[in-house]
Amino acid sequence: MKPKWGMIATWRMAYEGIVEAVQSLERKQYANDCVELAIRHVEDFPFYKSVGYGGLPNEQCEVELDAAFMDGNTLAIGAIGGIMDFKNPVSIARKLSEERYNNFLVGAGAEKYAHHNGFERTNMLTDRAKKWWDKRVKAIHEKGLSPYDGHDTVGMVCLDSMGNMATATSTSGLFMKKKGRVGDSPLSGSGFYVDSDIGGATATGLGEDIMKGCLSYEIVRLLSEGKHPQNAADQALYQLTDKLQRKYGTAGAMSVVCMNPDGEWGVSTNVEFSFVVASHDLEPTIYIANPQNKQTVIEVASEKWLDQYQKRIHQPV
Ligand code: GLY
Repeated sequence: MKPKWGMIATWRMAYEGIVEAVQSLERKQYANDCVELAIRHVEDFPFYKSVGYGGLPNEQCEVELDAAFMDGNTLAIGAIGGIMDFKNPVSIARKLSEERYNNFLVGAGAEKYAHHNGFERTNMLTDRAKKWWDKRVKAIHEKGLSPYDGHDTVGMVCLDSMGNMATATSTSGLFMKKKGRVGDSPLSGSGFYVDSDIGGATATGLGEDIMKGCLSYEIVRLLSEGKHPQNAADQALYQLTDKLQRKYGTAGAMSVVCMNPDGEWGVSTNVEFSFVVASHDLEPTIYIANPQNKQTVIEVASEKWLDQYQKRIHQPV
């Protein structure tokens, strides 16, 4: 029987990283390495406004980044919050996952750790991101718009051909966030979770609401009951959306992707959401998901959608 492997990730921006990681998965490389490789690809691309280099800044026009890494065999976790001026947050998070203590570092402590461990220091604020920030500040003053917008975390779950699983996330968080604000992405159980015996999940959307339901852990818990990933994702996401509307009065945008050790996958969302999947029997494919009557409707992204996407991310500011 052909060995099974697979990878699923949030948002269209994950595509090129997944294409690269697939070549490694086909060569029987480890999930830990493949997920890091793919996320680094997204972090390095300057036109993605919500991850790594080119990510949108906080209200003080500083790019503070959050990231996490989890090894599904050992349950080792590494995470950083609010780190500034380091190139690949996911790699720093992975390095932290190898420590016995101090696995989750924030701000100056995370930067000190990155420096001591030889990670590359660089200015992560691009001219383009600064222009977006200027434009948003102007709109807030002139039109009274809400400052908060844009929180498209890249999150991935990976299964390699030996049955190892890993997950990782990376984000610049909520655009115009307060200095020091940390979202769900580096929080175990909220932005990500994986256990190689059960499966993994990762979330994107409004961190403040994802945290209220420990959404990624809830999906993995449902997988442990034997649910198909699609059912686990839909049940967890729509129950949390309903609960927040009932108890909290509103629910923000939330989307999840998940995969089990058989390479079966699921996705759920309460807004339009693009995602990418690749596996031993599926070429890297970009899909669009939409909510419909508490179920997720999935279709392959059309040429028109893909063209519009390219125009949108490269549009002049
Ligand atoms: N989901 C990313 C954030 O809220 O920061």
